[in-house]
Amino acid sequence: MTGSPPAITARDLTKRYGRTTALDGLDLDVPAGDVYGFLGPNGAGKTTTMRILTGLVDPTDGSATVAGVDCTDRAALVDHIGLLPETPPLYDELTAREQLQFAADLRGLEWDAVADRALALCEDLALTDDLDARIDGYSKGMSQKTAFVQAVQHDPDVLFLDEPTSGLDPRAAKTLREVIDGLAAADTTVFLSTHILSVVEEIADRVGVLHDSRLVAEGSPSDLVGRLDGDAGDGADLEDAFLELTAERSEPP
Ligand SMILES: Nc1ncnc2c1ncn2[C@@H]1O[C@H](COP(=O)(O)OP(=O)(O)OP(=O)(O)O)[C@@H](O)[C@H]1O
Ligand SMILES: [Mg+2]
Repeated sequence: MTGSPPAITARDLTKRYGRTTALDGLDLDVPAGDVYGFLGPNGAGKTTTMRILTGLVDPTDGSATVAGVDCTDRAALVDHIGLLPETPPLYDELTAREQLQFAADLRGLEWDAVADRALALCEDLALTDDLDARIDGYSKGMSQKTAFVQAVQHDPDVLFLDEPTSGLDPRAAKTLREVIDGLAAADTTVFLSTHILSVVEEIADRVGVLHDSRLVAEGSPSDLVGRLDGDAGDGADLEDAFLELTAERSEPP
């Protein structure tokens, strides 16, 4: 949105683990209310970026803010964000309802204040019938749905989703896309990492492509496709752009 401060900024954001550079000099400005698709091959640095932006790890160099809060200030950050990490952070011995109540409690929120929103999301995702079953009996998709509701029920300003459709059946994945679209329409900023490029093509306002720990391209999905040269651009889609942008570089002659 014009005029509002960016929901996410990163300046020269870098993370090294020993001799491995997981993220190298990332600069980002994500406007409030946008859906930002964050793409890259396995090991490119997407999860590392999300972990820094949500305060789970500190960067080695550079800085980042989310909702105007420095990302190393975890205590201030949590009020503004929701995170669906790669592995659903759930307690096996709880039911989904208990898990969602526990998550609200951890945030200092009364369950009554979030219950309507949480239960409506469960209904959308066809989780209602399983709400009172223990999570250790859940399928992968059921756990993923529970973790998604947990990330969103408190209506965060900025929502981080790391592979949100992982394990979801086609109907659930479609519903999730619609829910994400609805959140963005209600001014939630969504930072979305996924390998399902059709999802990004459908719902992302902007896309960033990481390759070998560096941001190699940024633009709207149609911008990135439009940058493909000549024949490669005819009838091309985001998958073609992704493959071109993340191809192994050949040595200069
Ligand atoms: N805790 C860690 N300790 C050491 N190396 C790590 C750690 N976390 C990530 N890395 C390394 O950082 C690089 C980026 O990993 P990251 O998990 O961010 O990739 P990704 O883009 O999320 O990949 P994927 O698509 O497979 O989820 C990889 O080389 C990985 O081995
Ligand atoms: Mg990852």
